[in-house]
Amino acid sequence: MATGITRVGVYPGSFDPVTYGHLDIVERAAKLFDWLYVAVLRNPRKKPCFSTEERVEMLRMATADYPNVVCESFDGLAAEYARSRGAQAIVRGLRAVSDFEAEFKMAAMNRHLEPDIETVFLVPAGQYTFVSSSVIREVAAFGGDVRALVPDFVHERLMERLSMQKGERPE
Ligand code: PNS
Repeated sequence: MATGITRVGVYPGSFDPVTYGHLDIVERAAKLFDWLYVAVLRNPRKKPCFSTEERVEMLRMATADYPNVVCESFDGLAAEYARSRGAQAIVRGLRAVSDFEAEFKMAAMNRHLEPDIETVFLVPAGQYTFVSSSVIREVAAFGGDVRALVPDFVHERLMERLSMQKGERPE
C-alpha cells in the first residue's frame, strides 16, 4: 500500500560492540521502515571499549548489505535526535522481561519529550535473548568463546582490544 509517507526509524544504542542480537533487530526494523538510522550515543560519561568512531565503523561494515540503513553517531537526547532525522519511531530491542522496566521508563520519557514519536519494541530471535555487548566483552575477557555471537571482524577487533588492555595493566 503506497501511503506517500516516508517511514523513518531510529535505533539508538551504545553498540559497544555490535552483536548478532543488534543485527537481528536491524534486519527486522529495516523491513518496517523506508530508512533506518542506527545511531551510536556519543557519551562522554562512559568509558567504552571502542571509540564512537570505531563503533559506527563496525556498524557500517555489519549493515553494508542493507541499502536503507544509515549508521552514525549522535549527541544528547535520543528523542531530539530522532526528530532531527524526521523519524516516526524509536526502535529498541526487548530480550526479556528484565529489559522491560528500564525500556518502559525510557519510552515514557522519550514520549514526554517528543509526543509524536513512538517507541517500537522488537524481539530478537530466541538464540540472541541472552546476548548483550557487556556480556560479550566480559566473557571474551575471560577467554570464553563468543565467535558465534558477533561478526568475525568484530571478534577480531575485540580480541585485539582486549589484548591491548591486558598489556596496559600492571598485574
Ligand atoms: O545500548 P544501550 O546502552 O542500552 O542504549 C541506551 C541509549 C543510548 C539508547 C539511551 O541511554 C539513550 O537514549 N541515551 C541518550 C540520552 C537520552 O535520550 N536520555 C533520555 C531517555 S531516558
